Amino acid sequence: MKGVVFVELISMAEDLAGEDAVDKVLEGCDLPSGGVFTTVGNYPCSELMTLVQAFSTSLDTPAGELQNRFGRWMFARFAQGYPAFFKDKNDAFSMLESIENEVHVEVRKLYPEAELPTFETRRMGDGALEMIYSSERPLMDFCQGMIEACTEHFGTPAAIERREHRKDDKYVAGFEIRLAA
Ligand code: HEM
Repeated sequence: MKGVVFVELISMAEDLAGEDAVDKVLEGCDLPSGGVFTTVGNYPCSELMTLVQAFSTSLDTPAGELQNRFGRWMFARFAQGYPAFFKDKNDAFSMLESIENEVHVEVRKLYPEAELPTFETRRMGDGALEMIYSSERPLMDFCQGMIEACTEHFGTPAAIERREHRKDDKYVAGFEIRLAA
């Protein structure tokens, strides 16, 4: 997993709890990387899960909620850092539909070692989109945070229903995204 993800998780935690509290949490974690992350490095996803769990305990926030917040945080960072992907998208659904065949394709070209999920999308009549997440990593809450932030970014918050299952050792989650009428 890209170092930028770790650096941003730590920035978010510092924003929520302050640098000293985050340093203490990092010291208390038994991480093979030693808890030092750079944006150009790559680190195992298991370290991300360890950090989320440790911040969840220290911030007294459920791990799923923390992943969701982190998804929202990353979406804001990406929207800021990669405006080119957003400029020709008029609404949240066109943005979400472009992740699999455009955005993450470009990410893979830039960073062949990136670990990305796959998505399938399908329109369900007016105002609803089904988006199926499939990954070797259990980042469904992170993903939902990104989707929610995306719908809010376009000024159309949505109600999201999620169904999860495992398939061939993958984590699969179907998101039914309904824009508020
Ligand atoms: C709402 C839109 C988006 C969704 C739902 C989404 C979803 C995800 C998810 C769930 C992951 C975690 C990996 C996994 O679960 O297997 C991920 C990773 C990533 N995404 Fe996206 N993404 C979105 C937009 C973007 C944008 C705009 C960029 C900008 C370039 C981007 C770049 C990346 C990068 C760099 C990673 C990390 C890969 C790694 O750590 O190896 N994503 N994305």
